[in-house]
Amino acid sequence: MTSTPVRVALVGAGRIGAAHAETLARRVPDAHLVAVVDPRPGAATAVATPLGARAETEVDAVLGAADVDAVVVAASSVAHRDLVVAAADAGKHVFCEKPAGMSLVEIDEARRAATAAGVVFQVGFNRRFAREFAQARDLVESGTLGEVRQLRSLTRDPGRGPSDPDVVPPWTIFTQTLIHDFDTLNFLNPGAHAVDVVATADSLLFPGHATLLDHATVVVRYSNGALGTAEASFAAVYGYDVRGEVLGSEGMVTMGEGASSSLRVHGQGGRTASTAHSDTELLRDAYAAELAELCAAVREGRPPAVGADEAFAAFAVAQACIDSMTTGGRAAVATSVLQEA
Ligand SMILES: NC(=O)c1ccc[n+]([C@@H]2O[C@H](COP(=O)([O-])OP(=O)(O)OC[C@H]3O[C@@H](n4cnc5c(N)ncnc54)[C@H](O)[C@@H]3O)[C@@H](O)[C@H]2O)c1
Repeated sequence: MTSTPVRVALVGAGRIGAAHAETLARRVPDAHLVAVVDPRPGAATAVATPLGARAETEVDAVLGAADVDAVVVAASSVAHRDLVVAAADAGKHVFCEKPAGMSLVEIDEARRAATAAGVVFQVGFNRRFAREFAQARDLVESGTLGEVRQLRSLTRDPGRGPSDPDVVPPWTIFTQTLIHDFDTLNFLNPGAHAVDVVATADSLLFPGHATLLDHATVVVRYSNGALGTAEASFAAVYGYDVRGEVLGSEGMVTMGEGASSSLRVHGQGGRTASTAHSDTELLRDAYAAELAELCAAVREGRPPAVGADEAFAAFAVAQACIDSMTTGGRAAVATSVLQEA
């Protein structure tokens, strides 16, 4: 049986937007990339034209278009809340890159708009779609690992860090980077919620910088007693590194080995493995799987596997880290109370 693809407009043709556009056009059979939007001169055309899509500079051009079913928001994070609300108000289904807003209030506003419009609202926590992370979650849910006691999640960005520390917005390590790890910890500890955090972070690359935090370690305490650790660095010279671990009463599971494939070269220097040097390389299949999930949710008229509640829960941990850094102590994690307010 054949069915009509979901017609998608990509908003934000930067680094990840270009990758999502290519994925939508070439690697998600249920998607049809119709248009690419970016106000930056030439950006939309550069991405859209090779993929046979039309280029726009105004988001209204796709929100009013009858041939667009869904919008993938990959614009700068500060624009997310407004773009999600506008898309939902226009009756378009939405996928939004993380974070879904720049505060809990913004994420709640996006959530409310999507709920009121009755559209699918998926959030870009791609790690959930990486096969080993999904398998680990299955092992936890099935009880194979027993009672969850300790968890870890780690993100290290490739390279030597930002060339200009002044252009990195404050708290980026929590709201943009570790947000993936906070969601991963939440994902790997289903049925429990984060209660409080203690965060420690510093600039080891530009010591004494007023706002940059380029290394961070966070301890998250969960409602079921489990203790999680989230760790990030902006400077891993060996490549992009994402790992996870769950220790339960009946065993342990680990995810990620920092290698781009299982190829090992044995020589005089020992045994070596190639490493991935970008997120789109290491998690290529996960990015395709999350966009396939968007199409499946739209076609089946159901909520996506990861949505606004998960976006809120992960950002709540990030916000608690900011509070912990500001006060120097333990900080409580907000629950979804805004939803009922
Ligand atoms: N899930 C992931 O693994 C992952 C990885 C990278 C980036 N991201 C997220 O994706 C988003 C984009 O990141 P990036 O690295 O591609 O950034 P980028 O700076 O390379 O690109 C952002 C693009 O958005 C455009 N833009 C800004 N405001 C816009 C608006 N109102 N409408 C349309 N376009 C607009 C800019 O002109 C730019 O081309 C960020 O929110 C980031 O957190 C997620």
